[in-house]
Amino acid sequence: MTTFDLTNKCDLNCIHCIRINDRSRDLDVENWKNILKAFYPQETKIVLAGGEPLLYQGIEELLAMVRSKYPKDQKLFKQLTKGFDTPSALFEAVENNKLVVTTNGTALSDRKISMLEHYGVTAWLSLDGVTPKVFENVRRGASFSKIEKNLGLAINRIPVHINFVIMEQTLEDVIPAIEFVERLGINLIRFTPVREISRAKTNGIKIFHEKFVALLEKALTMQRSTPTNTLVLFNLLQTQKVFLMHQGRYDDISEQFGQHPNMFLEEKKCQQLKDPGRGVVNPKGHYTGCCNASSLPYFDMGNLLKTPLATAIGHQPVLDIFEKTPELCANCDFLSVCKGGCRLMSYERYGNPLVMDPTCPFLDERLQS
Ligand SMILES: C[S@@+](CC[C@H](N)C(=O)[O-])C[C@H]1O[C@@H](n2cnc3c(N)ncnc32)[C@H](O)[C@@H]1O
Ligand code: SF4
Ligand code: SF4
Repeated sequence: MTTFDLTNKCDLNCIHCIRINDRSRDLDVENWKNILKAFYPQETKIVLAGGEPLLYQGIEELLAMVRSKYPKDQKLFKQLTKGFDTPSALFEAVENNKLVVTTNGTALSDRKISMLEHYGVTAWLSLDGVTPKVFENVRRGASFSKIEKNLGLAINRIPVHINFVIMEQTLEDVIPAIEFVERLGINLIRFTPVREISRAKTNGIKIFHEKFVALLEKALTMQRSTPTNTLVLFNLLQTQKVFLMHQGRYDDISEQFGQHPNMFLEEKKCQQLKDPGRGVVNPKGHYTGCCNASSLPYFDMGNLLKTPLATAIGHQPVLDIFEKTPELCANCDFLSVCKGGCRLMSYERYGNPLVMDPTCPFLDERLQS
C-alpha cells in the first residue's frame, strides 16, 4: 500500500492533523501520472489522500489511468458496498482492495460519488466523532449534519469505511460511533490512536494509555452483550502494547479479541521502513517510507520527480534512523516488542528521532536513570 498525498489543500483545520495545510501549487496531473507509473507493477494498493484529495483538480484523470492498469472488479466492488457473509471475508477483501480515497467527506457530492462509483473507488471517510459537539470540535470547519447527509448519499453506491482517530477529545464518542455505523449499515470502522506529531503535537493532543485500554475493554463488553455486524478494527501502538504487557493484561485482551469474529486488534510495527508497502508520496513528489511522515522533511527519502523509486526506497540515512535502537531502550525487557517505538513522535517531541518514544510507559524513569 502506498499513499499519494495529491494536494496540501484542505477545507478543514482538524486539531490533530499530521499534514500541512497550504495553498501552494499542486503538482500537475502529468507529474502524478509519472510518479504513479513508477509504482507499477509491484504496487498492490493505492490510497489517495492529502490534504483533501477530492479537492485535487486532476483526480478523475488519475483514477482513469489507474483503472486502465488495474481494471475495476465489479463483483468485489459490489460486495464491499453491500457487505460480506463473514467479517474475515470482508477483512481480506479490504486488504486486497486496490483503490482507495481517504476523505473528510465535505466534497462528497452526487457528482463526486458517481465518479468514485464509476472507477470503483472505496471511500475511507474520517469521522472523529458522531455528535456535532465532538466532531465539530475536532474537525474544525466541518458541519456534522452536512457530513451525515453526504454519508447518506454515498452509502449503498460505493463502499464506505470509517476512520476514527482516538484522542482525549473523541473518547466519549468511540462506543457511540460503533452503534452509529452499525445503524447506517456501514460495514467497517477503524479506530486509530492519535500520533503526537505536527498539529497534534503543537496542540497537545494525546490519548492516555489507561483510557485507551479502558476503551478496548468497554468495546469488548459491548460486543458481548450486543454484537454488531460491523467489522471493528482497533490499531494498537507499540508502546500501548508494552503498557498492556507490563500490566499483565495483554494476553487476556488479545484472547478476548480472538473470541469476537468482528473485532480485530491491529498491531503497529513501525520500524519496517524497507517494507515497500508502507510509503507515502507528498504533494511535492517527495517519498518517505512511513505514511505518517509525509510533511516532515527530516524523513524525506528523495523526490520522485528526480530520483528513481528504488533509490528513494533504499535511502540509507533515513533507513538508519529506523534501524538503530534508541540508547535509553538498550536494556528494556520489551525491546523486541517495541524497538523504541515511533521515531516520528520522538523527533517531534525532542528534535531527535533516536530518543525513546514519548508515549513509552517507562519514559520518566528511563529519562531520570
Ligand atoms: C491526513 S488525513 C487526509 C485525508 C482527508 N483530508 C481526511 O481527513 O480523511 C488522513 C487520515 O489521517 C488521520 N490523521 C490526521 N492526523 C492524525 C494524527 N495526528 N494521528 C492519527 N491519525 C491522524 C485523519 O483523521 C484521516 O483519517
Ligand atoms: S485530517 Fe484531513 S480534513 Fe483534517 S485538516 Fe488534515 S487533511 Fe484536512
Ligand atoms: S524503553 Fe524503549 S523499547 Fe522499552 S518500552 Fe520504552 S520505548 Fe519501548
